[in-house]
Amino acid sequence: MTVSLTTPRPLIAGNWKMFGLEASLDEARAVAAAVAQAPPAARVAICPPATLLHRMADALSGESVIVGGQDCHAAPQGAYTGDISAPMLADAGATLVILGHSERRGSYDETCEEVSAKVLAALAAGLEPVICLGETLAQREAGQAEPIVTGQARNSLPDDLSGQAFAVAYEPVWAIGTGLTPTIADIAAIHAAIRAVLVERFGDHGASVPILYGGSVKPENAAEILATPEVGGALVGGASLKAKDFLAIIAAA
Ligand code: PGA
Repeated sequence: MTVSLTTPRPLIAGNWKMFGLEASLDEARAVAAAVAQAPPAARVAICPPATLLHRMADALSGESVIVGGQDCHAAPQGAYTGDISAPMLADAGATLVILGHSERRGSYDETCEEVSAKVLAALAAGLEPVICLGETLAQREAGQAEPIVTGQARNSLPDDLSGQAFAVAYEPVWAIGTGLTPTIADIAAIHAAIRAVLVERFGDHGASVPILYGGSVKPENAAEILATPEVGGALVGGASLKAKDFLAIIAAA
C-alpha cells in the first residue's frame, strides 16, 4: 500500500439514481441541518436525479452539503435529445458529477474512452468528477477483478485530471444494490491497486485523491469499510435516500 502524503477529508456521496420527487427534498434538508449542527469529518454530497438538481441546490443554498449530477454528456451542448451537459449541471447548481457508474457502463455500453471524454467535459465546466470503476461477478470469479479495475482506471482517467479536484469510486458491480459486499481484505487490495495507478499517473497528487468504496454501504457496515486502508469515503445508493441512514454512514467516516 502506498502511504498517502496528505490525507484529504473523506467524501460521502449519496447517489439517488432514478429515485426522488419534490417531497424527497425534505430528506436532503434533514441531512443538511444535521451536518450544520454537528459538522462531520467527511465532505457530504447528494446527487439527485436531474429534475431535482436545481430545486435541491436552492433548498441547500448556504449549506455545506454538495449537490451533484449523476452523469453528463461529453459535449457542452448539441442535438442530443434527453442528454444533459456538464455546463447545464453547473448552471443548475451542481459542483460535482458521478461519471462511469456501472449502471451507465452496463445499460448504455459506456466505454472507458467515453467516460474519459465526460471527465474532460466535467472539468471544463468546473465540476469535480467522481469516476466509478468496478468488476462484474464473472470477472471477479475469473480472478480478473484487479486487472479489470486498474485497466478501467488507466483508461477512464485523462491526464487533464492532474492537479484537479476529483475522486475515484471502486464499486464492484455485483455489490451494488444486492446487500453483498467484498471482504475487507478484498476492498483493501483493490483500493491499493487503484492507489498505485493514481500515483503512477499523477504522482503526489495521485497519492491524495480520495478513493471511495461503493456497493451496499449501510449504517451497519460503514464504520468497518471506512476504516479500511485507502478507503477515502463512500458512494452510497439505497441507503442515501433516507436522511437517518445516510447520516449514520456520514457519522461513521
Ligand atoms: P447501493 O448503490 O449503495 O444501493 O448498493 C451504490 C451505487 O450504485 O453507487
